[in-house]
Amino acid sequence: MSRIPLISGNWKMNLNHFEAIQMVQKLSYELRNHDYDAVEVSVHPPYTDLRSIQTLIDADRMHFHLGAQNCHAESSGAFTGEVSPAMLQKLEVGFVIVGHSERRSLSGETNEIVAAKAKSVFAHGMVPIVCVGETLEERESGGAESVVETQVTGSLADLSKDQLSELVIAYEPVWAIGTGKTASAEDAQLMCAHIRSVVTAIHKPAGTKVRIQYGGSVNASNAVELMSMEDIDGALVGGASLEAASFARIVSFQDA
Ligand code: 13P
Repeated sequence: MSRIPLISGNWKMNLNHFEAIQMVQKLSYELRNHDYDAVEVSVHPPYTDLRSIQTLIDADRMHFHLGAQNCHAESSGAFTGEVSPAMLQKLEVGFVIVGHSERRSLSGETNEIVAAKAKSVFAHGMVPIVCVGETLEERESGGAESVVETQVTGSLADLSKDQLSELVIAYEPVWAIGTGKTASAEDAQLMCAHIRSVVTAIHKPAGTKVRIQYGGSVNASNAVELMSMEDIDGALVGGASLEAASFARIVSFQDA
């Protein structure tokens, strides 16, 4: 069973809509058509950039998927400052990151909240990228696997069997995010294999189909080795996705 790798750029709170347009134009220029034969690519700009990038992708028939970094679980309502999955769907968003560790730690997102968001993203015709990952203390105390397992089972609790197969999970150890410290390819592989076994235990066919990305200080130099691992099906890239040339080098990892 071959899974098509998904390379996603999470821009976090960076690049206004003018800068975003420039960035996507440069990225499109850097990538060649054959880069898209073997991988899927998504860019996840801030909400305020989405409409501009959607228009650009449409007009120039670019091959990227448009992605978002978060959404509310409800379709509409009195939720000041929130953005609904129905609004993202209208913008032709394909993938929505849910439960990023920055949202889990800074905005108090629990597994229950993440589960509701993942369900809602699917209900609106998009695919969630559900993030999980342990902190440094959790890893050092030997509890990384059980922490991640609890996050996976809790965050996927509301999904149907079919949705589990379509899903993307991003394993992002918190200590590797923005620190320049990447998990070794072997450690990342071990945890991604564990995540796959957790999904397999819920629904066996989904275990072979679910795509599992690695995230945390991915760059053009370490992407090739990470992506060669059996259970790693792509990358969720932060800092290195803000610069077109470096992100393009990660996307074309198979040429290296
Ligand atoms: P960095 O690639 O900057 O470490 O960020 C990873 C991340 O959090 C992507 O979601």
